[in-house]
Amino acid sequence: MSQRLTINQGTKPIYDIVYENDFNKLAEELEKFDIANKKLCVITDSRVKGFYADEICELLKDKCKKILVFDFPDGERSKNLDTVKNIYEFLIQNKFERKDMLLALGGGVVGDTTGFVAATYLRGVDFVQIPTSLLAQVDSSVGGKTGVDFDQYKNMVGAFYMPKLVYMNLSTLKTLDDRQYYSGMAEVMKYGLIKSASFYEWLIENMYEIHERNLETLEEMVYKSCTFKKLIVDKDPTEKGERALLNFGHTIGHAVEKYKNFELMHGECVALGCVAAAYMSWKRDLIAMDDYYEIRDMFVPFNLPISIENIDPEEILRLTASDKKMEGDQIKFILLKKVGKAYIDTSVTKDEILAGINEIYFTEEDWDA
Ligand code: GLY
Repeated sequence: MSQRLTINQGTKPIYDIVYENDFNKLAEELEKFDIANKKLCVITDSRVKGFYADEICELLKDKCKKILVFDFPDGERSKNLDTVKNIYEFLIQNKFERKDMLLALGGGVVGDTTGFVAATYLRGVDFVQIPTSLLAQVDSSVGGKTGVDFDQYKNMVGAFYMPKLVYMNLSTLKTLDDRQYYSGMAEVMKYGLIKSASFYEWLIENMYEIHERNLETLEEMVYKSCTFKKLIVDKDPTEKGERALLNFGHTIGHAVEKYKNFELMHGECVALGCVAAAYMSWKRDLIAMDDYYEIRDMFVPFNLPISIENIDPEEILRLTASDKKMEGDQIKFILLKKVGKAYIDTSVTKDEILAGINEIYFTEEDWDA
């Protein structure tokens, strides 16, 4: 396949995303950054380490000064300042200098945490994203958002910090467990909903191949998703405006994620948040009732939830207010005008958000109905 996409800031090229089906070109790509004179630290999680860390070390060990691996327990609960501190300690003990390089090998948690360490260790060291989950390949590894959670606040501490390169080996998607894979599909569907009705249709038409994880379909799906993200982040890298559209489904989604203490996966919560936001769009007469039900029901064949039991809607409403997407007292809420077109609304009321949350709340009466 060997496709490339360049992320720019304005017209200035900043870094490339490379699409491959293996890791065979990783050394060649990294040699462009003079790794012969650098120490490399592969930062990964306990799960991904078992799959790919040895292979990466084997491929790079003769090309750089030294390569070390640091891993931490997998899952969102590791995305915090304790993990950051442990990585700083490891880098200090191993005398990593500013000219050395970090490689983030894993999903969104690994990429966001490593990126934040790279942005802050010695006031900034180079890093490369090697995303291995669908969610990281289509979203979190692209666009330079790095950071960790702080107490109950998601992604509250972080920096915009660009990687030198994003190297995607699409065959890593084959080793994802089903739940992780479909969690990534929520972000893919989000691109269709906010940016492209034809991509949304394409996803539905290619549902079988997507379930089968057909490599050619995955390549097209990931590449197109990154193209949508590129269109947005090239123009608005630091979320002064349009980038906020990417938060469709995330305001209520993040609140559910926190409420459930990260028992649900990020994409599962995003799917719930998208359903709630689509419902709110219908209730404002922005989209038709049929459109709402179609959007809602289309998450089901991709194994994503459209309702949730055992929640306290008022508490979720309270948590949405502690999300970062606030401007003063106003929440920046993303609503749909139609499939393929989203906009930022700052007039959404608490009652509307509560109605959205109640729509995804599955109660005992729903069983009886
Ligand atoms: N994941 C949303 C963004 O990168 O802006």
